[in-house]
Amino acid sequence: MSGAPQKEAQDLRKEIERHEHLYYVLDAPEITDKEYDDLIHRLEALESRHPELVTPDSPTQRVGGKASSAFAQIRHSKPMLSLDNVYSEEEFRQWWARAEKGLGGKTQFEVTLEPKMDGTSLSLVYKNDVLASAATRGDGNVGEDVTANARTIRSIPLRLGSAGAEMETFECRGEVYMHKKDFDELNRQALRDGGKTFVNPRNSASGFLRQKDSKITASRPLKFAVHSAGTLPESLGIEKHAQFIDLCRKLRLPVTATPTQTAKNADEAVKIYSRWLASRQSLSYEIDGVVIKINDLKLQKALGMTSKSPRWAVAFKFSASQAETAVIAVEYSVGRTGTVTPVAKVTPVECGGVTISSVSLHNFDEVERLGVKIGDKVLIERAGDVIPKVIRVIEGPGKKSSIAPPKICPVCGGQVLRAEDGEVAYRCVNPLCPAQLERRLIHFASRNGLDIEGLGESAVSQLVQKGLVKNFANIFTLNKENLLKLELFADKKAENLLKQIETGKTRPLSKLLAALGIRHVGERASRLLAERFGSLDTLARASAEDLEKIPDLGPVISESVASFFRLPSTVKMVKEFKESGVNFLEPKRKIVESALTGKTFVFTGELESFSRSEAEARVTALGARASSSVSKKTDYVVVGASPGSKAEKAQKLGVRVLTEREFKKIIENP
Ligand code: IVH
Repeated sequence: MSGAPQKEAQDLRKEIERHEHLYYVLDAPEITDKEYDDLIHRLEALESRHPELVTPDSPTQRVGGKASSAFAQIRHSKPMLSLDNVYSEEEFRQWWARAEKGLGGKTQFEVTLEPKMDGTSLSLVYKNDVLASAATRGDGNVGEDVTANARTIRSIPLRLGSAGAEMETFECRGEVYMHKKDFDELNRQALRDGGKTFVNPRNSASGFLRQKDSKITASRPLKFAVHSAGTLPESLGIEKHAQFIDLCRKLRLPVTATPTQTAKNADEAVKIYSRWLASRQSLSYEIDGVVIKINDLKLQKALGMTSKSPRWAVAFKFSASQAETAVIAVEYSVGRTGTVTPVAKVTPVECGGVTISSVSLHNFDEVERLGVKIGDKVLIERAGDVIPKVIRVIEGPGKKSSIAPPKICPVCGGQVLRAEDGEVAYRCVNPLCPAQLERRLIHFASRNGLDIEGLGESAVSQLVQKGLVKNFANIFTLNKENLLKLELFADKKAENLLKQIETGKTRPLSKLLAALGIRHVGERASRLLAERFGSLDTLARASAEDLEKIPDLGPVISESVASFFRLPSTVKMVKEFKESGVNFLEPKRKIVESALTGKTFVFTGELESFSRSEAEARVTALGARASSSVSKKTDYVVVGASPGSKAEKAQKLGVRVLTEREFKKIIENP
């Protein structure tokens, strides 16, 4: 086998060099950062097993790729390093343990955490407080002189604020990036002009910064944020990274919009990381991870660096949740209200840990907004467990076919019309459309409805196709004989389902109302209605005026409920429910007098331990009120992950803002 490791090293180096050229010089990467890191790690491992194979020109022995030759070159006062990446908590803790070991094992240290801005790095040198030069990272040692272009970025001060000390030379490094909305606008403009769209904010920022004509750079919405020190005057007496960031703020240099935080141990750092991961979507710019740095510069120095990156810092990256793919076809799915939703079939692609082959396009206005056509290359995103969506079209016009609303329903052949109530929906208007009936029944039996286990897609679809179920009430009259007609249904399974259906009959009225899928009536309205009327009978007999009297219900919902219960089919359903011995009741909730009685709560963002309606139910049980909008009268705004504008409004109005933890404390000891 002699010679094999040598060949493997050569092949790996060639491959890495090709990708470095694609990434650093041409701005056209073909692989993800993670795949690139894997190649480097493989080579590093090979070289450490066979030290005799290490060559001076190995990619592990230098900082980056080749500098582009179009601009004058600037040698950096010290190398501009890149960062090692970790992708999981386990890897991060390993990094922490290595740092501890490197510091002799006993040293306690503090780290700073900042967002990892997804842009391109830039070094700024100020001479006696005046911007003297700006350089890209280049190969890490020598970069390109982009001073003229950097001067056009408005957030870069041409003259520094006062540090209270003389500074012959002051060098800082940071990231040039773009806001998401500016980037989207840029792409909309490109689409309007029939040009090529930009792939991502990072590549575009790098491209814009390296324009020959600085007028073009000036017209681009570039931003800058300092993230690390270059060479600093000793007289400043900077001892910590956080202190440097504070100094920059004082000098009027832009720093990351999300303030630097500190942590004293790995657990704290992981917590802060998770918070940022959860709130990343609500930031105005893209971040692809969190950069964690040992705060104390002396400890940084003690740890030093490898050939490529510092040992005192690490990028804890979010796993990729975006991917490029191509739209190969469009299918239409028909929902329970008849709404026809276009679904893009895409070339299967891995995204956020799962393989995606179809992506909802939501509605036809969205199709138009995105300008997406069959044959287009698109960027898709999957955030957490949310269904994937198309972010933007990557390539402009070509051989494409447009996506138009169908004229007839793909399931029942019924007419498809644009909704008349100002909604963006197209609907199949046939009330007997089996697709709609199936969807309605699936929702009826789902966890948000009557929670009838075993009545899922496959069973419902067969029950509808065999004509055994034509409406909700039919579910309660199913018998064993009926169920044995279904595929894969034998004695036991049929009996189990019948038991589940019996349990479904005992659910509270609020669950039934949510299950019926009445327009505009979600969990919250269902609860309000159920609490007010107590039984299906009473609600069915309520007049429009009775409904309007419910605080917090709103005219659209009460009108929708009133007209639903006037429908002959609903009247028939209520009667049939009764005939099969079903009477939906809402148990009376005990209201406890507490310090919260009479207070108003508003919730925004996702909570970890409660669904929105659970949280609302908890406060109403304590005699408080849950409202959907913030005003001066609001007592508390509870802010979860990815909060909306309500959090900002609360701050403005001086309303007390609670984190989930604080909220829990309050309701546990009211
Ligand atoms: S510190 C020696 N902090 O990420 C450490 N870098 O993958 C120097 N980046 O080249 C970098 N946000 O351009 C640092 N908060 C942050 C950052 C950050 C983005 C970029 C930077 C660097 C690259 C490394």
